[in-house]
Amino acid sequence: MRTSKEIREGFIKFFEDRDHTVVESGSLVPANDPTLLFTNAGMVQFKDVFLGHQKEAYTRAVSSQRCLRVGGKHNDLENVGFTARHHTMFEMLGNFSFGDYFKREAIAYCWEFITQHLNLPVERLWVTVYEEDDESADIWVKDTGIVRDRVLRLGEKDNFWSIGDIGPCGPCTEVYYDHGENVPGALPGQVADGDEGDRFTEIWNLVFMQYLKDGSQMSKLKTPSVDTGMGLERISAVLQGVHDNYQTDVFADIISAATKMAKTDDKYSPAIKIISDHARACTFLVADGIHPDSEGRGYVLRRIIRRAARYGYKIGLTEPFMHTLTETVVDTMSDVFPYLNSARDKISKTILNEEQRFIKTLDQGLGILEDYANNLSGDTISGDMAFKLYDTYGFPLDLTTDIAKEKELKVDLKGFEECMNVQQNQARSSRAFGMGADTLVTGDSETTFSGYETCDDVVTVERIIVGDAAVESASANDEANEVIVLLNRTPFYAESGGQIGDTGELLSSEDSKEKTLVRIDNTLKQGATHKHYGKVLNGTISVGMKLCANVNAARRQAIALNHSATHLLHAALRKVLGTHVTQKGSLVAEDYLRFDFSHDAPMTKEELRAVENEVNEQI
Ligand code: SER
Repeated sequence: MRTSKEIREGFIKFFEDRDHTVVESGSLVPANDPTLLFTNAGMVQFKDVFLGHQKEAYTRAVSSQRCLRVGGKHNDLENVGFTARHHTMFEMLGNFSFGDYFKREAIAYCWEFITQHLNLPVERLWVTVYEEDDESADIWVKDTGIVRDRVLRLGEKDNFWSIGDIGPCGPCTEVYYDHGENVPGALPGQVADGDEGDRFTEIWNLVFMQYLKDGSQMSKLKTPSVDTGMGLERISAVLQGVHDNYQTDVFADIISAATKMAKTDDKYSPAIKIISDHARACTFLVADGIHPDSEGRGYVLRRIIRRAARYGYKIGLTEPFMHTLTETVVDTMSDVFPYLNSARDKISKTILNEEQRFIKTLDQGLGILEDYANNLSGDTISGDMAFKLYDTYGFPLDLTTDIAKEKELKVDLKGFEECMNVQQNQARSSRAFGMGADTLVTGDSETTFSGYETCDDVVTVERIIVGDAAVESASANDEANEVIVLLNRTPFYAESGGQIGDTGELLSSEDSKEKTLVRIDNTLKQGATHKHYGKVLNGTISVGMKLCANVNAARRQAIALNHSATHLLHAALRKVLGTHVTQKGSLVAEDYLRFDFSHDAPMTKEELRAVENEVNEQI
């Protein structure tokens, strides 16, 4: 039997012997690529090389790339556990040509590798090509001898590969392996929309990169290239005589640890598959710097951990267990990925933390849902209930829908969305209008902001509000001399994004008889309107008056320094604690700043010192 390790090594060696440069797997987090959530194919680290934006010393490469297909165009999460071949995290073996060889050589290498190196029987092989790609179809028949009936032509959905909405793409040709008629499944392209089953498994995809896709636009690449990908887990199944990836050596130790923990003999149940698959994904994600979070990549990690925890819960794993399984993943995979070993403790600590949090949520949410379902007349969980679980108890909507499905109930998703909208609108309006004098300030009269260029400006008074009333003027001698002043333009920065508003004064110009002086204690914003909160200290302020608006410049400067310091602090925290640190909120004042972020533990003295030193060094 060929082990997965031997297959990986054999693949790399085969292409190395054919002048391919061996390139290490890149991170699951694509470098400098905001268009992609995760590395979802071997070609991701070569994207700029395909596009001609980056030059490498080589024109041929080979790699075994760790990939994650959760989120974005390629998302297999919901399939995992219920098929023999889907994973969240998997390894992709690939050979690449950057303007070097093209279709003929790529097909020849592929055929030589699978038939002579792996010795797959030709009668088990099928091939698909893009319906318009006569050239590839001819090469297959003429150069490999495969019979024409075994070369199927499929449309764009199956045989035109692209990474996402933006990036290199092109027609592809795929090799399928027939696991035999005792495994249910249909030939590719035979099932309109749905599961083709596990009998015919795609083992290798050869993409002929010819175009750049940018939304709906397509342009030709300067140099046609080749990008291939073979799932290590799938080819291992083929070579180890099983049709289910989970029955290969890749999963043996992890499944054995999981079944032992769950005290079950059912090694390939959906729950065990999900737990084992997700343990691998979590391990690699944390090792690659992702931290569970409520958004972005961190949210994907959280979802994976929670999905595993929930399926574990179903088979009696009601205490945290995933963190222990990550240790098994590190044990089985660190000879190929040594960086896992050094992250071992961080991985299990991070996962444990998240599991503990989730178990609390789960217990509470499940109880509430259970009571609700028992007393339900009808077959639909209301949007209000789903929203309450989500909003008040942190119980994710996907879990509510999952549980509903198990109980043969529906969830009123539209109702849920409506509740969500109402809440968001309320939050928005209380943010914008919760600052008093709402009825008098519509927020749509735009104040021109000149504060980036100057701290002093000549301005015109447009409106004065005292208490709940708009007034024509206000004097220092009035009983109520606290005012909100609206101006046509202003150098006063209004509180936003965590930065406090400016203070200063409004002064009459030199030549007026009676000096007007309004002290401004704060500046807030409502829509596009700046509201200056202050007190008339001398003279009278009236609508239409021209005044000098002077910002307290020293204070503004101190605020600006603290603003810069939040950026330095953010960068230092990411350096010391890891790139999972992102800003959750902050307050920037003249005498201090506050920076909010999440991390799995309180910072140690050493970490605090390291952050402090890093910031000071930059200053
Ligand atoms: N990029 C292609 C795929 O992911 C071939 O590697 O299938």
